[in-house]
Amino acid sequence: MGEVKRISLTEEMSLAAISRVCAHSAAFKAEYGYSPRAFVLTFGCQQNVADSEKLSGMALQMGYEITNTPEQADLILVNTCAIREHAEKRALSIVGQYKHLKEKKRDLIIGVCGCMVVQEHRREQLKKSYPYVDFVLGTSVLHRLPELLCRKLAEKRRIFGSEEEYAIAEEVPILRESHYRAWVSIMYGCNNFCSYCIVPYVRGRERSRAPQDVINEVRDLVARGYKDITLLGQNVNSYGKGENHGVDFAELLERLDQIEGDFVLRFMTSHPKDANRRLVDVMASGKHIAHHFHLPLQSGSDAILAAMNRHYDRAAYLSILDYMREKMPDIAVTSDIIVAFPGETEADFEDTLSMLRRARFDMIYSFIYSPRKGTPAAEMENQIPKEVASKRFDRLLALQEELSLESNAPLLHTEQRILCDGPSKTDAGMLSGRNGQNKIVFFEDDGTPAGEWVNVKIDRVAPFALYGKKI
Ligand code: 5AD
Ligand code: SF4
Repeated sequence: MGEVKRISLTEEMSLAAISRVCAHSAAFKAEYGYSPRAFVLTFGCQQNVADSEKLSGMALQMGYEITNTPEQADLILVNTCAIREHAEKRALSIVGQYKHLKEKKRDLIIGVCGCMVVQEHRREQLKKSYPYVDFVLGTSVLHRLPELLCRKLAEKRRIFGSEEEYAIAEEVPILRESHYRAWVSIMYGCNNFCSYCIVPYVRGRERSRAPQDVINEVRDLVARGYKDITLLGQNVNSYGKGENHGVDFAELLERLDQIEGDFVLRFMTSHPKDANRRLVDVMASGKHIAHHFHLPLQSGSDAILAAMNRHYDRAAYLSILDYMREKMPDIAVTSDIIVAFPGETEADFEDTLSMLRRARFDMIYSFIYSPRKGTPAAEMENQIPKEVASKRFDRLLALQEELSLESNAPLLHTEQRILCDGPSKTDAGMLSGRNGQNKIVFFEDDGTPAGEWVNVKIDRVAPFALYGKKI
């Protein structure tokens, strides 16, 4: 791999654009008595959440205020996801709803960003059928928002360019949603080309940030009081591959673990083919590294794993899983499962169920296979009918519910250290938080603010949550 281009938002081109948009924001304020407002809506994974924090950070830097109500906005940015059809449909439907906002406010600027718009057919669709969308901004060019907005304000034309720039952008301002949980991207893109997955096509080839940039960011977050830091990448175990700094993921984690402070380090997502024993050893001996591993299995059938182009089989998966459990008996392991991949027979599906029983995941994220245009699996024969898929999906969920309850049972009457997230969204009078294993814990509201550590004695366990009292 050639040297990855590194860009900084302090480059001259960006600075000029930022100052022009700032001038526009100031003129707007002089005219209306308030600053222009930006609304950022996010679909999809944590990587998109992290990307949106950058979009908000750049908008703020350009003189916008951030609003939670699209009706108030002068700039709307929809950060889209392309992983499954459902995510795309939801994004398109929301964009459709913004038509009436544009009718009311002629100067409203609407930008559609992220993975969906990297696909040619979606850009064309937006251009043709959504005439009130002003621009698209693909995943790898999000840092070009200032230049794009500057052009849009000057030229008034719609901008539907397709240029992607698979580089690493540093010094992009980040407006973090939380003051105690933070996302830190360490690598971008994916080289794995799992046959069902659109990510390698919309996020480009793998490229890793320099270790010192990551270390500086995490050190700064800890100094500012962040207590739960998640390192992000499509395949974090590939961190450093093809770069000449010689630091792999285990080494990076080890260096980050040396930072002083009361904080927890997490990471996602890992690929089983690259999750090695050295990484497990670093986790087991770490001071700050959470005993939680998200390791997508996708299927329990060796034939389907091969068709998915996953490069591991049941035995290899179980070997690393057993090693993790041996080194960290308290570890929580979560996974992703896809049901009804093309050609999945009843026997293949039974293999997935048997793997669930053997692996005893604490929790799984399960998905019905969704064909993605341009991926090999979408062209495969034997696509599974919807009714078969949804029956299998229900059986999978029912089994996992039993297994999750069993995996939580030993936690009854234990004490758990929890990072409080504030009032529960579902149970009035309760607070919620997460323990090191990332399990949700509910406890009575005693006014503990979000972002504080508390110790909770567990008095009830359910499949997807623990309940208890603060000690
Ligand atoms: N259909 C269904 N699920 C998918 N995933 C990725 N691509 C697809 C698809 N085409 C799932 C995988 C991945 C998770 C983020 O999304 O399980 O790990
Ligand atoms: Fe998609 Fe596979 Fe890459 Fe994960 S590892 S992003 S599933 S191609």
